[in-house]
Amino acid sequence: MQSLEIIAMLNVEAVRKDFPFIRPGRVYLDSSSSSLTPEPVLARMLEYYRDYRANVGRGIYAASRRATDEIEAARKKLARLINANPEEIIFVRNTSEAMNLVASGLNLRPGDKVITTIQEHHSNYIIWLREKARRRIDLRVIGADALGDLNLSEIHGEIEKGAKLVSMTHVSNVLGVRNPVEEIGKVCRENGALLLVDGAQSVPHMRIDVKRIGCDFLAFSGHKMCGPTGAGALYIRKDLQGDLEPLCIGGGSIEDVGVDYYALRAGPYRFEAGTPAIAEVIGMGAAAEYLMDIGMENIEAHEAELTREMLEGMKGNRKLKIYGSIDPKRRNGIISFNVEGMDPHDVAIDLDRAAGIMVRSGHHCALPLMKEVLRIGTGSVRASVYLYNTKSEVRTFVETLSKISESGTGGAG
Ligand SMILES: Cc1ncc(COP(=O)(O)O)c(C=O)c1O
Repeated sequence: MQSLEIIAMLNVEAVRKDFPFIRPGRVYLDSSSSSLTPEPVLARMLEYYRDYRANVGRGIYAASRRATDEIEAARKKLARLINANPEEIIFVRNTSEAMNLVASGLNLRPGDKVITTIQEHHSNYIIWLREKARRRIDLRVIGADALGDLNLSEIHGEIEKGAKLVSMTHVSNVLGVRNPVEEIGKVCRENGALLLVDGAQSVPHMRIDVKRIGCDFLAFSGHKMCGPTGAGALYIRKDLQGDLEPLCIGGGSIEDVGVDYYALRAGPYRFEAGTPAIAEVIGMGAAAEYLMDIGMENIEAHEAELTREMLEGMKGNRKLKIYGSIDPKRRNGIISFNVEGMDPHDVAIDLDRAAGIMVRSGHHCALPLMKEVLRIGTGSVRASVYLYNTKSEVRTFVETLSKISESGTGGAG
């Protein structure tokens, strides 16, 4: 494993050796959808299946005890990644499940004000529409300007007038822009509102500190941070856990059961009914460790450099329309754009055929933003970078895009 040697700076060539998916002819620019997985993470998952394949929290034999210890070690690693306490980390399947847990678990009553934003991924939007229909919450959706930047004074005003919860994304999965969640966390605390942060696009890419943000809940997915699919995490501030109803109850989440009663366990186990995705959770812990060994600041700086380079290369192309602020300092490594006169899916197909460049195209699960703010119901193309991408890949992308936009095709037929 190369990552331990990379301390002061990110050595991208060494990092790339860890990722078996990377090979000549492939340029992976779709990490904000799902990231690649390095060998050390794959090895830890395989080790579970080979060496201690047993259930957790149930057996007293050595293999089962080891599986339990490894799961708890993963909890500690994820806690360290976001500066939480291990008992504040709940294992879930993904960010969507995490936010569903909060929306359905909070004791929301008719008229309770919940604030969300027009920038949200569907996973942090339709859960609140559902609660509006189900429990008649007073849902407020904060708007954005033509660039997609949120109306911050509107958020502040709504919180100050009294709100139960603010649920918003840290980084837009379409625009890559960062929202000032620390500032919003402060206003929430001053006004007694809870804050749920969707960290799907921030936790994998930058140093996150839940205490500094001052949030009550933070959701993120393992598969976007070099881990496997099927495992994610939800941070729930410790003193709120007892008031939150689990999404699912059953084996593993109970303290006691009688013929006509049950009592749930305290701590994260309250929310973790049934056998977890053991190998995946261990893999997610290994991914957190992998990223921390490289250094979140190093990853952030590397992506910032690539984003600057990509924006610079794209800015000169008059056929491109880039969405969101083009100030690289305000963005993570996500760039959404369209090519004049071309369908976004055709651009994505051409990029793949011409140079093996993999990007996402479509509405990116953010239809309210697409329709109401950006006015592109047909969607956009989205390129996103991560720790394993190089400047040379960015140049290939910019050059291929330039050819495609000039000819309306990448020349691959
Ligand atoms: C901002 C944001 N929130 C939530 C999600 C949902 O993540 P998952 O599909 O892992 O549940 C995504 C996925 O793209 C996202 O980008």
